Amino acid sequence: QTVRLVDYRPTDFVLLGVAMTLKLFEGRAEVLARLSLERRPGVSANAPLHLDGDELVLESLVLDGAPLAPETYEATPDRLMVRGLPESGRFELAVETRIAPEANSKLMGLFRSNGIWCTQCEAEGFRRITYFLDRPDVLAPYRVRIEADKAAAPVLLGNGNPVDSGELADGRHYAVWDDPFNKPSYLFAVVAGDLDLLADEFVTMSGRKVTLGIYTEKGRSEQAGYAMDALKRSMAWDERRFGREYDLDVFNVVAIADFNMGAMENKGLNVFNHKYVLLDPDIATDTDYAGVETVIAHEYFHNWTGNRITCRDWFQLCLKEGLTVFRDQEFSADERERTVQRIGSVRRLKAHQFPEDQGPLQHPVRPAEYREINNFYTATVYDKGAELVRMIATIVGPQDFRKGMDLYFERHDGEAATIEDFITCFEDAAKTDLSQFALWYAQAGTPTLTVTESWDAKARRHEVTLRQSLARGTAGTGLEPMVLPVRFGLVGGNGEDSVADGQVAGSAKLKDDLIVLTGREATITFNDLPDRPYLSILRDFSAPVTLDHEQSEAARLALARLDPNLFNRWRALDDLVAEAMTTAAKRAPGDTSPALKPVVIEALIALAGDDGLDPAFRAQGLALPGESDIARQIAENVDPDRVHEVVDAARAAIGTAGHAVLERLRDEFASSKEFSPDAASAGRRALSNAALGYISAATRDPGPAIAQYQSATNMTDRSAALAILAHRFPGDPQTERALDDFYRRYEADDLVLDKWFTLQATAPAHDTLETVKRLAAHPRFTMRNPNRVRALVGAFAAANQVAFHRADGAGYEWVAEKLVALDGINPQVSARTATTFRAWRSFEPGRRAKLEQTLRQVSETKGLSKDLQDIVDRSLK
Ligand code: ARG
Ligand code: ZN
Repeated sequence: QTVRLVDYRPTDFVLLGVAMTLKLFEGRAEVLARLSLERRPGVSANAPLHLDGDELVLESLVLDGAPLAPETYEATPDRLMVRGLPESGRFELAVETRIAPEANSKLMGLFRSNGIWCTQCEAEGFRRITYFLDRPDVLAPYRVRIEADKAAAPVLLGNGNPVDSGELADGRHYAVWDDPFNKPSYLFAVVAGDLDLLADEFVTMSGRKVTLGIYTEKGRSEQAGYAMDALKRSMAWDERRFGREYDLDVFNVVAIADFNMGAMENKGLNVFNHKYVLLDPDIATDTDYAGVETVIAHEYFHNWTGNRITCRDWFQLCLKEGLTVFRDQEFSADERERTVQRIGSVRRLKAHQFPEDQGPLQHPVRPAEYREINNFYTATVYDKGAELVRMIATIVGPQDFRKGMDLYFERHDGEAATIEDFITCFEDAAKTDLSQFALWYAQAGTPTLTVTESWDAKARRHEVTLRQSLARGTAGTGLEPMVLPVRFGLVGGNGEDSVADGQVAGSAKLKDDLIVLTGREATITFNDLPDRPYLSILRDFSAPVTLDHEQSEAARLALARLDPNLFNRWRALDDLVAEAMTTAAKRAPGDTSPALKPVVIEALIALAGDDGLDPAFRAQGLALPGESDIARQIAENVDPDRVHEVVDAARAAIGTAGHAVLERLRDEFASSKEFSPDAASAGRRALSNAALGYISAATRDPGPAIAQYQSATNMTDRSAALAILAHRFPGDPQTERALDDFYRRYEADDLVLDKWFTLQATAPAHDTLETVKRLAAHPRFTMRNPNRVRALVGAFAAANQVAFHRADGAGYEWVAEKLVALDGINPQVSARTATTFRAWRSFEPGRRAKLEQTLRQVSETKGLSKDLQDIVDRSLK
């Protein structure tokens, strides 16, 4: 059944406090929850209490100390209804349930991972532990007692502060945790197990000492050092940038091997997929380091944006997620290099959010309805949600943005808030009307911003016309013009922005370097210019739109050299390359004329070789648009083999033309022995490895990659070399030997083994399907570990355009078969994997028919989870 935003109403009963005891045993857990409740004033005296459950077994039910008569309640695995509760005043309902953590393969609620008891409650996992008002607007303080065998679980962790612990009979012990801050059930967490600890402390801006702990599997706490460093930097940054101080005496992080998501911001007890905690140079790449830093920051920042202020209902998910992604992006921009980070975020948005917004799974940033909320933890809610916050900051300016955030924290601390609450704070801070801006939260789809220019040489006048449009999509939401903040510059031949006065005709405002377009169209006229300027538009990607700007190749090449806005320097080239590849991929098969003109290749090489620029930025310049980006731009009748051919040929052409420069970059930037994970060092490695990729593509010689594989002193260089071997030289005996060597070297480490699975699953060759089938039968493959599933099945379906989309449909069949099998174990992971079918309508007729047929087959399978059923049904719509 569908849940709708318009149906929101508060609960009939108010929750005042929760006292719980969890007794953990081998094979089972007993849960006693004592709920202090009160009928909400005005609610009818005979309204029953409805509590949510999910696969629960009720053991006992006691009202104010007296067992309830069976005729006063109804309990099923997913519901508990109690009648005859007091008309007024506080009462206590004690609910006892029994659960089986070891049998919980969905990894929602209380489960066991490598012997460790662990919980995941967002969004609706708490109801798998006890019957509850399991929704985010029900806030209460919790006191939780955990009991377990001392040998199996010497460490017992909960939310809040530790207040008591001690010994029990039979080798058992207990700990009591008290969380004084009101919180919703989705932030509840308990962890118990035999864990190692990395301890540290942080002194907050008001001088309070906070004890920090990162708990890991035995013997791995040393690998949490970088995460700890990132945590302390996050805490300091949130104080500096947003005035937000941590509020409890302890802050704990636990790293877990079996986890559905990246991490979870439970109050005072963040639980992480261990992939986002454990690192050292030998097992982790620079990308892994950056990922740990981001996720640690993200979960920590949730303490204010998510926990202190939470969401009224799940429709408001972007209130905490979009805002917190914006905050973690800003953190990384401040800690690393702003433009490079921005390029990364925009790439990610285009690669994941744009296809979602332009396909059948389209939904507004604030959805109006859902069947399964877990399917809405999407790129749209997270990444487009962050873009909306970024646009608010752009529109109101940095000072009023900070003022609005302060107001938000002041007004809504301790509340479950809405998007309207959030927007109002910026309206009040900046004394402006954001009601039209709010359409961004309600209207799905990527707007197109069309830009045209006209230069009048005699009058020395440049006219720039902006038009916006929004195509009708499957979400069926409104198509009204939105507020588009467009940063721009008029670049002169000297590489400086010309300052020019502009007159606006139409619905837009112009202030300094920002045009805010509010109507469908506006024209800005710039007078008295010395020369025709190069228009640098949508700087820093100031609005999440598809830019349709007809600009000459000469102008773009000039911007790629001259634009003082570095982001747009990168984009000028990226657009040229993407458009050329798109055009080439649309040409008839057999037409092998090169995609990239020599001048474009020269510009790419010039940028890469420009020693005046940051190596990380130069590496971004060398990273070609992905095959799926090109496929999205082609939009219809896509032939993935053809796309691959074009990208492959372009890579070789760049490698050939740029050989001398690329070799120099290798000499200059290849790793020294000393490894440091900082952004500058990572940038040098990225540039050197990008150069190696091109050289290998051009020379068709695996030699340099083999040499780097063998001599590498860190995982970044080793896995970059192995990726080149596995993807450019599949089947070569030297590649086989390197893959075997990698396996033997890292066999003991699951995180590195995931890389080994993924490198092979993403090799762009038709027979990779056979490899993947073989790997699925490998003793180290298991459907029970989400990371492993994502490393093999997920990577194959999402990142192998050639083999997954094999023309005979065998790739689709194999993934579908795995999906259905996986669905019986872990529906959240199966549903996520199934989204790789969503672009089916954009393919050429043969693949389109096979994709559709596969989706229909899955859809008609009996007994699918609500999660998977929802994704396949919406994909077909
Ligand atoms: N709140 C977590 C985070 O973004 C993610 C939770 C994902 N939950 C889910 N049901 N998919 O930090
Ligand atoms: Zn989050």
